[in-house]
Amino acid sequence: MSEEKEVREAADWDERYRKGFYDGPDGPHDLLVRYRHLFGGRVADIAMGSGRDALFLASAGIAVTGLERSWEGLRIAGQAAAARGLSIAMVQGDAARLPFRKDSFQGVIVFYFLLREIAPDIAAVLDRGGILMYETFLKAGGDVDHPRNPAFLLDEGELPALFPGFDLIHYDEGLREHKGRMRATAQLVARKR
Ligand SMILES: C[S@@+](CC[C@H](N)C(=O)[O-])C[C@H]1O[C@@H](n2cnc3c(N)ncnc32)[C@H](O)[C@@H]1O
Repeated sequence: MSEEKEVREAADWDERYRKGFYDGPDGPHDLLVRYRHLFGGRVADIAMGSGRDALFLASAGIAVTGLERSWEGLRIAGQAAAARGLSIAMVQGDAARLPFRKDSFQGVIVFYFLLREIAPDIAAVLDRGGILMYETFLKAGGDVDHPRNPAFLLDEGELPALFPGFDLIHYDEGLREHKGRMRATAQLVARKR
């Protein structure tokens, strides 16, 4: 991506968080709540946003590192953590160049962020036996809520194919309601072999 485009996109997200146009630090995703018992050790939240899932894991005593490009998202997450007496490690950076060492996490979560080319890097930062949780938008017809850019949308069956070398614990593609609008998403929970 050109530097100029990167800067513009990062600024867009800062603006969205500043204006409250995107979800705040409350309300972890249902998938994480359902499978929270699978996580322990160190967990990375890639494209953490303003911390809704990282804060949930931290409140369960898990050591979370959130990677996020938006300074405003990080500011909100930090403020929410302080208000709740929680601690999360936060890294400002670009997921395209994951700043984590190989085998350094026992869990990785990714919600509503897609950069296909880093799937092997995401797999690599997980320890053997580690848990990957991933949920994001599918291409779907009809009046559903999703980003306009097709580069950010998954094909049917694509998500598990991006992560060979994992045993599936949960995989589902379907329509789900989010704040009164329907979304088509793929949900994956898998263990690294
Ligand atoms: C749709 S939001 C999802 C946030 C959070 N995971 C959630 O579900 O609430 C996408 C997030 O990805 C971040 N982001 C976009 N491109 C990024 C990149 N290259 N590296 C790191 N974060 C990025 C944005 O700043 C934004 O916070």
